Amino acid sequence: MDASDKPKVVLGVGGGIAAYKACELLRRLTESGHSVRVVPTASALHFVGEATWSGLSGNPVSTEVWDAVHEVPHVRIGQGADLVVVAPATADLLAKAAHGLADDLLTNTLLTARCPVVFAPAMHTEMWEHPATQENVATLRRRGALVIEPAVGRLTGVDTGKGRLPDPAEIFEVCRGVLARGAEVARGSEGAGGSGAARGSGAVRGSGVAGGLGAARGDLAGRHVVVSAGGTREPLDPVRFLGNRSSGKQGYALARTAVARGARVTLIAANSALPDPAGADVVRVGTALELREAVLGAAVDADAVVMAAAVADFRPVQYAQGKIKKKDGEEPAPINLTRNPDILAEISASRARPGQIIVGFAAETDDVLANGRAKLARKGCDLLVVNEVGERRTFGSEQNEAVVLAADGTETSVPYGPKEALADTVWSLVAPRLA
Ligand code: CTP
Repeated sequence: MDASDKPKVVLGVGGGIAAYKACELLRRLTESGHSVRVVPTASALHFVGEATWSGLSGNPVSTEVWDAVHEVPHVRIGQGADLVVVAPATADLLAKAAHGLADDLLTNTLLTARCPVVFAPAMHTEMWEHPATQENVATLRRRGALVIEPAVGRLTGVDTGKGRLPDPAEIFEVCRGVLARGAEVARGSEGAGGSGAARGSGAVRGSGVAGGLGAARGDLAGRHVVVSAGGTREPLDPVRFLGNRSSGKQGYALARTAVARGARVTLIAANSALPDPAGADVVRVGTALELREAVLGAAVDADAVVMAAAVADFRPVQYAQGKIKKKDGEEPAPINLTRNPDILAEISASRARPGQIIVGFAAETDDVLANGRAKLARKGCDLLVVNEVGERRTFGSEQNEAVVLAADGTETSVPYGPKEALADTVWSLVAPRLA
């Protein structure tokens, strides 16, 4: 790919200790074929120096508007970008962006960019929770910027709490999702006789949306969505459980793509070993009963709930406090099972909010579509994603193939492809159904 055809990303780096993690984000962006211009703030250079940014990006680095003035960098860099991602975004940078201040190259770039803008904040919990920061975040989101929620965990020093920069690999996935979605939007507008601003794989630049950050405002902006993922485990004794093969990948893909489309996401993860998706609030559960409690709690103010988790239909009647031991000459005692509540049927029958959209999944091995239709009716949900499963299909795989059945009778086939593509189709079916 010619350098000029590569999607152009501006990586803004704020002055926080997490600046070192932006090096990893930069590496991922360049290695996946993006042309990256790093624009650090002057204070970011206290943490990671110019040589690192310029060496890793292969592009010149400046913090001020006074370098190469004849190239008008304070305007050109923002105008030419397909995506601006600010990581870490400090409280100060969020405040400046929200108020339109422009006292260095990065803040000027934020004012001139008309492409999607992603902020990945990192700061101490108190700073994140301060009403000033929260109001600035709300302002930026209202204007269309994607401000991803910070992760919870170890902060600088001994503190832990919300405010940690999400994993760079996960921020990268958000960027990829936003660029892909921008390209899709641009293709759609071209098809409809649009401006034809798209170029390369991710271009939404110059789409003509006036006066704001983030031209490609996500269709789930302002929405709260709940996604369950993984597989429940029903304990038999302290060392054994009844479980299933679900890896959580499809549910995590749903969470990631919803973040990229602007939603506030609660991911209820049952026994998944996957890294937390950037920007999602992750609630960890073990059993079906714990999953039910978490889903009911999160669904109270949710616009949509997607039940991608593989929930055990049965659990052992009894839990042995000590490890069940084998005894010579004795047959093992049978394991008695009891039914778990059907969470999907329950939340579909009594919706926490009028107009809430509920999506279920069905894993079938035979008569896939007929069983799927019967299940959609039985569960009472709005959409049912039906996929055929087998030992080497779906579970643990990066790919999936499905048919999405809707209660209104429509069917959408999703060809074999990445789980992210299926996730995006699900959200594209959910979004227009939201009240
Ligand atoms: N589900 C649930 N609560 C359960 C079982 C399943 O909410 N106790 C949800 C799953 O998250 C999924 C859908 O229901 O969205 C799957 O339904 P289920 O009837 O369990 O499907 P299969 O396991 O595919 O079906 P079957 O029992 O028909 O084999």
